[in-house]
Amino acid sequence: MQHHKRPPSSLLFIFGGSGDLNYRKLSPALFNLFIDQWMPEKFGIVGIGRTSYSSEKYCARLLEGIQQFSRRKGEQNGKWQDFSKHMTYLEMNAENEEEYQKIAEIVKTKEQEFGEHPNVIFYMAVAPQLVPDIVKKLGPLNICADTKCTRIVVEKPFGHDLTSAHELNLLLRNMFDEEQIYRIDHYLGKETVQNLLALRFANALFEPIWNRNYIEHVQITSAETVGVEGRGSYYESSGALRDMVQNHILQLICMIAMEAPVSFDANEIRNKKVDVLNAIRKIKTEEAHEYAVRGQYSEGFMKGEKVPGYRQEKNVAPQSKIDTFAAVKFYIDNWRWQDIPFYVRTGKHLHEKTTIITVQFRPAPSYAFPPEASETWRPNRLTISIQPEMDIRLRFQAKRPGQFMILNPVDMIFNYKEAYEGDEPEAYETLLLDIMEGNATLFMRSDQVEAAWKIIMPILEAWTIRPPVDFPNYAPDSWGPEDAEALIARDGHNWITLTSTH
Ligand code: BG6
Repeated sequence: MQHHKRPPSSLLFIFGGSGDLNYRKLSPALFNLFIDQWMPEKFGIVGIGRTSYSSEKYCARLLEGIQQFSRRKGEQNGKWQDFSKHMTYLEMNAENEEEYQKIAEIVKTKEQEFGEHPNVIFYMAVAPQLVPDIVKKLGPLNICADTKCTRIVVEKPFGHDLTSAHELNLLLRNMFDEEQIYRIDHYLGKETVQNLLALRFANALFEPIWNRNYIEHVQITSAETVGVEGRGSYYESSGALRDMVQNHILQLICMIAMEAPVSFDANEIRNKKVDVLNAIRKIKTEEAHEYAVRGQYSEGFMKGEKVPGYRQEKNVAPQSKIDTFAAVKFYIDNWRWQDIPFYVRTGKHLHEKTTIITVQFRPAPSYAFPPEASETWRPNRLTISIQPEMDIRLRFQAKRPGQFMILNPVDMIFNYKEAYEGDEPEAYETLLLDIMEGNATLFMRSDQVEAAWKIIMPILEAWTIRPPVDFPNYAPDSWGPEDAEALIARDGHNWITLTSTH
């Protein structure tokens, strides 16, 4: 393994220690960092929750989570024993201000044990409505004033709309400096997403043609086969537009559309991204129907298995108007992208699990070849598969071997699994390591979050003013409502997936 420097000593408090995020994502990620020798020499992880657990029981439960959800299953030849020595559980009622002293005491004890003051990281892995109250009670602790070592990590959803996101930002900024706040968008931690910067800015090939002169349109599909998976009560206050577009998908647009950064400094990269968000055309509420389509799944079959409709899911209102599918056409009003549509769509219970970005180039300027040679001619296209496939395909024309001049499109493929050995780190591994190292590049700054809300607010407003009349309007295992096909077909295009043939 390549020699690397480990992050400084760190003490991590996970609010929501007995919850799902810690079980499925955080603990597996921290354990993988430990196996790969990325955890600090000295560290402690304290799970905080209301459930009563002994530290042993707590660890045993997290090991179950690892067996189920980690990219490396099981306890890895005794490594779990070593790792779990660093873990404790703190039963605490986070509503009770006095109990926060327990945290201060743990920090003191660990300081003595480590022989130095560690990074102190507060991870909010709790329901979003609990965050403000915890922040208020945490803020007055002396350690929070340590702008260098103390950090707070906030999961999405960051606010429910522009106003609540702004209020949450104000509250956080009252207690912490911006540099201490790590707002998570886990898509930014994905290897394939980080590679977008390398693809665009470490190659001479793409950047000169990466603009409105050569690109006809861009598409992003982020489709899931799962339904709401028991998260009905969260999803009822969210919907696909809030859950996926406001954050993950707009961030993907930023990576595709941003100008070249002049350095890898966290603020420089985030400045370039926020420029994109600020340039995205604000749709007028009364015109939203021309740009945005919503859907909700009915009952039906997923790969032959019967599944309930969204309205029949647990904790969902029988007449719910929440979108489980959203498609939007965006424009970015700047020199590079003026009038180039960016089509995005996302949804639950769709036909495939896939996140794919397609950059569709304009057709070659002249078809010098005779019509019979170029019947299957297609414009160049770059498809970037983010997940579960991880590859990049460049489609171009080739002459079919033989005595006839017949052209057809072929793919040049870069496949991660073939090119590189071993598993790539999970997004949460990368993000947790960055937090310990104090690198905020892959995290959302307050202005980015608010700029993203500004973009989707008119759509949300339009959808509230005009409740949907056709819900449920798509069957499970489909590609969403027909209107989503019409949204892109009106402009003469169609949605592309890896399995589509156009
Ligand atoms: C989360 C959403 O942010 O992203 C979920 O809340 C969604 O609804 C998930 O399922 C998708 O993440 P991934 O990494 O599986 O694409």
